[in-house]
Amino acid sequence: MKLLTLATSVALLSTTTLAKEPRTPDQIFAKKCAMCHTIGKPESNMERMRMVAPPIDVAMSGVVITIDAVDGPFKDDELRKESIAFLKDYLYNPTADKTNCEDQVVKNFGRMPSLKGFLSPEELDVVVPWVYDTFKPEKVNGEYPKHN
Ligand code: HEC
Repeated sequence: MKLLTLATSVALLSTTTLAKEPRTPDQIFAKKCAMCHTIGKPESNMERMRMVAPPIDVAMSGVVITIDAVDGPFKDDELRKESIAFLKDYLYNPTADKTNCEDQVVKNFGRMPSLKGFLSPEELDVVVPWVYDTFKPEKVNGEYPKHN
């Protein structure tokens, strides 16, 4: 009887552990973004054919460079704040008028679906600043390179 209880609680414990949502930003990215956004350019035609969204660094270049050009120019910390605010809104409410992707990108991939209900508000808060810090474009000689 005691053994059975132990077995049951171990089983319960492992299901809860398994069901636990990912916590660190890179784990959240791996589970909730990476199935659509690769990190870096596709390395083979097969990978290219499987693409359903722009690589994350390309997507981030579009966001950051456009925000800086249209509403800025911003200082680095302001640009970070503006971009993070944009992303938090976009991931839940992506609409045609908000996208910073070029028409061709939207034509190829369609628009990003709302991640409401898939990405929790806590995960949104954790993953977005990390995505900005990890994949934002870097200035070269004080200017952003043209993004592609
Ligand atoms: C089901 C596929 C899918 C998932 C999952 C997904 N995306 Fe996207 N995402 C897209 C597509 C398609 C686009 C390009 C069209 C657009 O901008 O809506 C896009 C665009 C973007 C952009 C550019 C937005 C802009 O204004 O141009 C960013 C940044 C982005 N995604 C980040 C993320 C992050 C971070 C996650 C995970 C939390 C994520 N995406 C999850 C498909 C996805």
